[in-house]
Amino acid sequence: MRHILFILTTATGLGLASCQGPEGPAGPQGPAGADGQDGQDGADGQDGADGQDGADGIGAPDYVGMDACADCHEEQWNEVVRSGHPYKVTYTGGEDPVPPEYFPGEWPDDPPDGYTWADVSYIIGGATWKARFIDSNGYIITSGAAENPVQYNLETQEWVTYETDMEPGTKEYTCGPCHTTGYSEEGHQNDLEGIVGTWAEDGITCEACHGPGGNHVDDPYRVEMIIDRDSELCGSCHVRGDNALIPASGGFTKHHEQWNEISNSKHRALDCVDCHDPHKSQKHLDDEWNPDGSVTVECESCHFYEAANQASTAMSYLDCVDCHMPEAAKSAVGNLDAFDGDIASHLFAINTDADAEQFNDDGTYTNPYLTLDYACRRCHPTDESAAEAYDTAYSVRTDAELEALATGYHD
Ligand code: HEC
Ligand code: HEC
Ligand code: HEC
Ligand code: HEC
Ligand code: HEC
Ligand code: HEC
Ligand code: HEC
Ligand code: HEC
Repeated sequence: MRHILFILTTATGLGLASCQGPEGPAGPQGPAGADGQDGQDGADGQDGADGQDGADGIGAPDYVGMDACADCHEEQWNEVVRSGHPYKVTYTGGEDPVPPEYFPGEWPDDPPDGYTWADVSYIIGGATWKARFIDSNGYIITSGAAENPVQYNLETQEWVTYETDMEPGTKEYTCGPCHTTGYSEEGHQNDLEGIVGTWAEDGITCEACHGPGGNHVDDPYRVEMIIDRDSELCGSCHVRGDNALIPASGGFTKHHEQWNEISNSKHRALDCVDCHDPHKSQKHLDDEWNPDGSVTVECESCHFYEAANQASTAMSYLDCVDCHMPEAAKSAVGNLDAFDGDIASHLFAINTDADAEQFNDDGTYTNPYLTLDYACRRCHPTDESAAEAYDTAYSVRTDAELEALATGYHD
């Protein structure tokens, strides 16, 4: 975004001639002086000449970066800079990382064990759930056989291992299509060989969803931006593989699968933006620009019957999402014994059979509903000994009790 011009000035020692007697032989050259201070940033360059108009009057637009939208779309800009999207990958170029002005997350004080910040070219995420790091050749820093902890989890502020079967310096950064704006699979960003592809701007910014804005910025009334309200826009990144299936591992649905989940629920009739404001963060609130998060509708506005009819008065203070959107997916941190991950499920449907399985036989896929484990047992342990695994546990409830209350819960 910003180009900073470093001017290096070097001072050299100069000898002085005396005025008495014949001039002696020239002395040896003095040592080089200390490096001068960095020069001031150079003045902005002049605007380039206007490009030629294309056949229909306007050439293909360039990516201009989100700061070019700030003056005219102050509200959207202020919302987006406070969300996780723009910080999906951030160039540090070997410098000590300085978080951007409105960065909502938290980077660790130190780089992964065995590395200095000079060995790190990019930080991946660290905005919401976890941070990973790219080395100075463009490869993602992995644990390898040494099992060094190289991933930083925000919630617990702990380092954990990542890719213990991949030697450091071998894992290419192929993540650009979902982490950057204006991605092209050609070439290597910043000439780092481990990075597959190049892009116009780090992170997910305005033009990742609205298309390149170069022409619109010049002439906003004549050139419209793309507005795509379809779930497939969000689903191009919030997906894993084929959206017909819901991949799982280690007792949790994997992360970035909201589109897989929605596609397997009756809410596939809705678009993500029917519930979400695309510019606002759901995870990072802000008193002025985002007091209520990205979800703009109440479940009750469509499901007024269920809202009015609930079998339990003891649980009447719960929100719909407490039972219908438990954190059954995991990005960084998960407590398997308490059925508690760190990403809200988008499956919604609850299977009230106490023996229903959440996953297929080998645990690689999630079934398209929530079992009572995630909907109920994440609060209600099955017995006192199970309760020890919980941070906050409510009353112990047997299978029979849960099933009895769950069945026909809103009848
Ligand atoms: C010089 C001011 C200006 C700049 C800079 C600008 N816009 Fe706009 N934008 C406008 C105006 C004015 C409109 C409304 C145009 C209309 O009503 O026909 C608009 C409309 C839009 C719309 C459609 C809104 C709607 O309701 O249909 C989108 C999306 C948009 N801009 C995105 C962007 C993005 C992304 C950028 C940065 C790349 C950007 N704009 C930069 C002035 C600007
Ligand atoms: C180009 C890929 C891409 C697209 C398109 C995309 N997302 Fe994201 N989204 C991401 C990534 C990557 C993250 C993780 C960012 C972070 O570090 O928090 C994310 C995070 C989020 C978050 C959680 C972070 C927060 O600040 O609350 C929400 C909510 C979200 N996206 C909703 C949406 C919606 C709704 C759409 C469609 C309008 C959408 N996304 C489109 C890639 C994308
Ligand atoms: C994650 C995708 C995504 C990102 C990032 C994004 N937008 Fe949007 N934007 C949308 C969608 C989808 C809509 C349509 C929302 C609707 O109609 O409910 C929209 C609508 C708009 C509108 C119309 C008015 C409104 O708020 O609905 C403007 C203007 C706009 N965006 C500008 C921007 C600017 C400027 C940025 C960057 C600062 C930006 N957008 C970033 C997806 C995105
Ligand atoms: C298909 C799109 C996609 C691909 C490919 C992808 N990611 Fe992501 N990633 C996401 C989305 C969407 C999120 C946030 C939503 C979620 O986790 O449910 C995310 C979240 C993350 C986060 C957490 C960010 C934060 O601020 O907490 C990290 C770290 C991450 N991804 C690393 C990677 C790495 C490393 C790769 C490549 C090896 C990769 N991702 C490939 C879409 C993708
Ligand atoms: C814009 C309207 C709308 C909103 C908002 C909405 N829903 Fe729905 N929901 C629907 C529709 C439509 C269906 C499908 C109804 C059908 O086919 O009988 C549905 C179905 C469901 C189902 C049954 C799912 C299944 O696969 O059997 C559950 C549970 C549900 N919604 C919960 C919620 C919760 C919880 C919220 C709030 C986070 C919510 N809904 C918000 C419209 C909405
Ligand atoms: C029926 C409404 C609804 C629809 C449709 C919906 N979401 Fe959500 N989403 C929510 C609610 C409510 C939350 C917050 C859940 C909570 O409070 O824990 C949420 C949270 C999220 C989060 C943050 C994860 C977290 O742990 O809080 C992401 C990312 C997200 N949604 C992405 C999407 C994407 C992408 C789509 C479309 C494929 C989508 N959502 C469709 C209601 C919806
Ligand atoms: C977010 C936590 C939470 C979730 C999720 C939850 N409960 Fe509860 N439940 C409570 C609390 C709090 C009470 C009242 C105090 C107590 O009994 O622990 C309660 C009470 C109960 C009771 C005794 C009171 C009564 O009304 O009969 C039953 C039975 C029960 N829950 C069943 C369920 C079932 C079935 C589900 C899943 C569909 C569920 N709970 C999901 C927190 C939760
Ligand atoms: C204590 C847990 C709990 C809470 C809180 C809860 N539900 Fe449910 N909900 C259930 C269970 C269990 C079922 C499945 C009932 C069945 O299949 O017999 C269900 C079913 C549904 C269905 C599907 C109904 C159908 O006919 O397929 C909808 C829609 C729904 N809930 C919406 C909501 C909304 C909206 C809220 C908030 C106002 C809410 N629920 C709060 C437990 C809960």
